[in-house]
Amino acid sequence: MNATINGAELSWQENGEGDPVVFIHGFPFHSGLWADQLSAMPAGFRGIAPDLRGFGESSAPGRGPLTMDQHADDVVGLMDHLGIRQAVICGLSMGGYVAFSLFRRHRSRVRALVLAATRSAADSAEAKQGRTELAKKVLNEGTSVVVESMLPKLLSDITPKTKPEVVDAVRALMEANNPEPIARALEGMASRDDSSDLLREIDISTLVIHGEDDLVIPKGEAQLMARGIRGARIELLERAGHVLNMEDPATFNRLLKEFLDNLPLTFELTTFQLER
Ligand code: MLT
Repeated sequence: MNATINGAELSWQENGEGDPVVFIHGFPFHSGLWADQLSAMPAGFRGIAPDLRGFGESSAPGRGPLTMDQHADDVVGLMDHLGIRQAVICGLSMGGYVAFSLFRRHRSRVRALVLAATRSAADSAEAKQGRTELAKKVLNEGTSVVVESMLPKLLSDITPKTKPEVVDAVRALMEANNPEPIARALEGMASRDDSSDLLREIDISTLVIHGEDDLVIPKGEAQLMARGIRGARIELLERAGHVLNMEDPATFNRLLKEFLDNLPLTFELTTFQLER
């Protein structure tokens, strides 16, 4: 499905009926990252996975960094388009950075948070520099530069041995994206806000879920983040790396279902008809 949202042609996939859960993919993936979650949506929940602007089938008009704030506004634009007042927001890695922007800018639209393989801190000066260099290389040499530099770090050591098909699937997700939006997304991540001070303002149910073997964002960062959010629950998945929802979908889906089934009832209507 697709629609024009905030001037971009945004595409999304969805499955299930009921209370909305918006799945926000990481970098440099697209909505296909969530195939194992969408196909197993718990009863009573509707999963919606957008391709963020510039990724998958979504366009990214203009130039300049693809910021987390723009992605957050796009997700809310999509929710408006679908008549959704509030949703559980589940973001993985860059998707978590977007979830923080969403909470900061549109907190009444967020029912609960699932923060997967992500961190609240902004980039260090060194990380920013690395992004700038990678962005230049991607523009000159193509998407394969980012695939080859990231792929070895994305999965637990054990995944290529036990689930080689996951390696192929992760590679295909990355290869589906074009160099220009990848470079713009690198700039967008480098310029994102530090969300560490936001943690203490999060007053909604939050599940932090992280791979024990994550090399991109070490689990210590997730533990620190979870400690900063009142009442947050943290789950560490053994034998899973950064793309934990694909490496161990059964455990990820079980934890997600438990979390969703136990959410406090909200007085907010989950859907509303926008006045036009
Ligand atoms: C992601 O998976 O979204 C990225 O690895 C996040 C990052 O590069 O900071």
